[in-house]
Amino acid sequence: MTELNFKRHRRLRSSDHLRQMVRETHLHKEDLIYPIFIVEGEGVKNAVASMPGVYQLSLDLLDEELKELVDLGIKSLIVFGVPATKDDVGSSAYDQNGIVQEGIRFIKERFPEFVVIADTCLCQFTDHGHCGIVHEGKILNDPTLDLLAKTAIFQAEAGADIIAPSNMMDGFVAAIRKGLDQAGYEDIPIMSYAVKYASSFYGPFRDAAHSSPQFGDRRAYQMDPANRNEALREAVSDIEEGADFLIVKPALSYLDIMRDVKNTVNAPIVAYNVSGEYSMIKAAAANGWVDEKGLVMEKLVSMKRAGADLIITYHAKDVARWLTNS
Ligand code: PBG
Repeated sequence: MTELNFKRHRRLRSSDHLRQMVRETHLHKEDLIYPIFIVEGEGVKNAVASMPGVYQLSLDLLDEELKELVDLGIKSLIVFGVPATKDDVGSSAYDQNGIVQEGIRFIKERFPEFVVIADTCLCQFTDHGHCGIVHEGKILNDPTLDLLAKTAIFQAEAGADIIAPSNMMDGFVAAIRKGLDQAGYEDIPIMSYAVKYASSFYGPFRDAAHSSPQFGDRRAYQMDPANRNEALREAVSDIEEGADFLIVKPALSYLDIMRDVKNTVNAPIVAYNVSGEYSMIKAAAANGWVDEKGLVMEKLVSMKRAGADLIITYHAKDVARWLTNS
């Protein structure tokens, strides 16, 4: 046989130990952020049908959930609220005793060590389900900014460690930063949903948070999935406005964007592994069609490889269990 000249890549794959030594990407419990849905009322534990394992919980039932998270070693939560009343300007979002504010207070009283992230948006609180003030069918940008800043201040006052504005109005980071600073919360970081696409992968979340738009869609404020350069413009402007972390959302179909953002700005990047990405795996696993653990671990490692430093994921509890037992 004539002599072949080639590289033996398999040399570094020959044993478990060797594979671990050359592994480039690692997933840790510290990377995980778990979303929770707090609902008004007492004794409420509503299973979200499209998201097996996810519940809307009232405050009195939250304790058990928080204990489980502590035991699993999950250190960070993002809080969503499902209010009892909605109106056209989302006033329950910026009410001192709104459900998110109550939830944050409760969590920080019981378990001050959690890093509590407040999702700052209006869509769960408006009767039309849009993320801003609506006038003649249009979502108004600038009048919405004041309401977001107000919401963020109440969340900070309740004890939120991080503010995460998600409504995709232009200038929301600048407006919230200014509002927080003026209220004396200059040390509270902003985790901006900087790069958020108008995605069909949010469907199950809207069941969980009761936040579906009642007319039209969100394409006049969330991004077109076809766009890449626009993501970088969004990322850069949020950094300029003072964002401390940037979220890319959804995650799985947008790993290219995550890497671009990581290479463009110097800030921690957060992947939001959204509801539809969760439900697809849960549904396939329930049918016995896929290996759930294998799929979930592979997709989360892919997000980290693509540049994510942190991952918001409904799989967090399962993953923490698997990481403990591996
Ligand atoms: C909007 C918001 C959305 C999600 C979280 N906050 C999307 C939307 O309804 O447009 C989606 C999260 C998910 O799908 O897991 N404030």
